[in-house]
Amino acid sequence: MKFKLTHTAAAVACAAALGFGSLANANTAAPTSATLIAKGSSGTMTPFLVDAQGRTLYTLSKENKAACDEACMKHWEPVVSESRPLGRDILPGLLKAEKNEQGVSQVSYGGLPLYRFDGDKQPGDMNGQGFADVGVMVSVLGTADKPEVAGEKVEATPELMAAGAKVFSSTCAACHGAEGQGAFGTKLEGFDRLANAPALLSTIIHGLNSMPALGGQFNDEQVAAVATYVRNSWGNKFGGVSAEQAKAAR
Ligand code: HEC
Repeated sequence: MKFKLTHTAAAVACAAALGFGSLANANTAAPTSATLIAKGSSGTMTPFLVDAQGRTLYTLSKENKAACDEACMKHWEPVVSESRPLGRDILPGLLKAEKNEQGVSQVSYGGLPLYRFDGDKQPGDMNGQGFADVGVMVSVLGTADKPEVAGEKVEATPELMAAGAKVFSSTCAACHGAEGQGAFGTKLEGFDRLANAPALLSTIIHGLNSMPALGGQFNDEQVAAVATYVRNSWGNKFGGVSAEQAKAAR
């Protein structure tokens, strides 16, 4: 997956890490660490918020949060800061840390409380986007944004669909149902999150919680084919995925 922390943000992240290190060495009474919120970017996407490690930050959609039960909330870790959060390449005035309902001092940006998603394992992962209909990435403008999928449109050709159907019926159908109706695995019929091709590819290749990582079993062509198949079956119409995109997601 293509992802870049802007140079300055990366430099700040490093500087912050070094700074805390030298404080510890000097054995000073370390102040409670301030949380750094920075700007991340990827392809044509509107720049969005990341933490000092480059991990994507989200807010939870107000309308849909009510439907996020206890099990769903376990995936979301509030970003906390005991002192005033630091911002880099973003509007620092929009940052605040305030006690939330659970009594922890949670960072918000433009009034949007920030969270990390437990399905994101490394910088550039955006698996929380649309998760359970509540996860929304936050643009540096202080609005909740949908990522646009970068790159050229790939066509869901009959050949890709046929190759994908093979992989699906031999491997995915056992958990997701022959018609994507869902079983042990998520219902894939009418599943909006399939619009996010990088997240889908990451799920197939690296797994997600109890979904096994299948990247080792399939080559890039097969991964692209099955991703295309699920994105364009059972009423889904999200277009194709290329082997190059699958390769980039490994
Ligand atoms: C062993 C069972 C199993 C197999 C095989 C399996 N999945 Fe899954 N899958 C799951 C489970 C369980 C989840 C729910 C993971 C979670 O959200 O915690 C899931 C989630 C997903 C999701 C939703 C991820 C999201 O964004 O929330 C997609 C898409 C998906 N699987 C696609 C596939 C495809 C395509 C295949 C075949 C290449 C496949 N799965 C094979 C069990 C499986």
